[in-house]
Amino acid sequence: MTTFLKPEVLRFKSLPSTNTELARRASEGAAEGLAIVAEEQTAGRGRLQRVWSSPKGAGLYLSILLRPTIPHNYWPLITLMAALAVGDALHEVAGVQTDIKWPNDLLSGERKICGILAESIDTPQGRAVILGIGINLTENAYPPELANVATSVSEATSQPPDCEQILAALLDALSRWYSRLAEPGQIIDAWSNRSSYAIGKLVQVSNGDDVWQGTTSGVEPDGALRLRTSSGEIKLVRAGDVYSVRPSSVK
Ligand code: BTN
Repeated sequence: MTTFLKPEVLRFKSLPSTNTELARRASEGAAEGLAIVAEEQTAGRGRLQRVWSSPKGAGLYLSILLRPTIPHNYWPLITLMAALAVGDALHEVAGVQTDIKWPNDLLSGERKICGILAESIDTPQGRAVILGIGINLTENAYPPELANVATSVSEATSQPPDCEQILAALLDALSRWYSRLAEPGQIIDAWSNRSSYAIGKLVQVSNGDDVWQGTTSGVEPDGALRLRTSSGEIKLVRAGDVYSVRPSSVK
């Protein structure tokens, strides 16, 4: 069944985390499409329990509530489709060309410009997804020690970014891509076309105590990354961090 999103935006000056606030409202029965935007977050969260630095006005901090009807094993595709939507919005509004690092980091010039945190929660209306998106608008969005791995829209364009235009384009793009979730192949194909990480990239994957090296070899129908190790074995990566490595550092 094709599902259309009708985003309704609530704005806050400051919140601990837009994901946390939206999860609270989802538990109280909020409808799909409720979106929360904050000018700053005082306890912004990233993937793998990391802190997401969120100073006032330096980033776009957005969470949107999804109540997907696709089978649960395809829910990992939601983060892939969100990355496609952010890529569209940044391109349409700011002309920024992005790459996607599996599963959903948006990169500009090999540095991170956007992070996505999808959290699923149980609500009285069924399982839901809190889709959190953080876009670095200016270099103040991230701490100086991350300057070699992070970037922002203003650095990519040399212009002050228009947060409202990016938000509007992002909500449109999310609505478009969300309606395509019923055709997982479309999401996988589009993601693979836009990600230099999809095929033939030498990477290191770390997931807790497990560290693997290998060459990426496509994406499974449920969004798992296929990794071919030096022994020829294919490992399916469903969680963890993926880093590009230079050929000389692969043993
Ligand atoms: C990552 O680690 O790359 C994901 C970062 C996600 C940050 C966004 S900002 C809006 C939403 N609220 C949060 O607390 N986190 C997400």
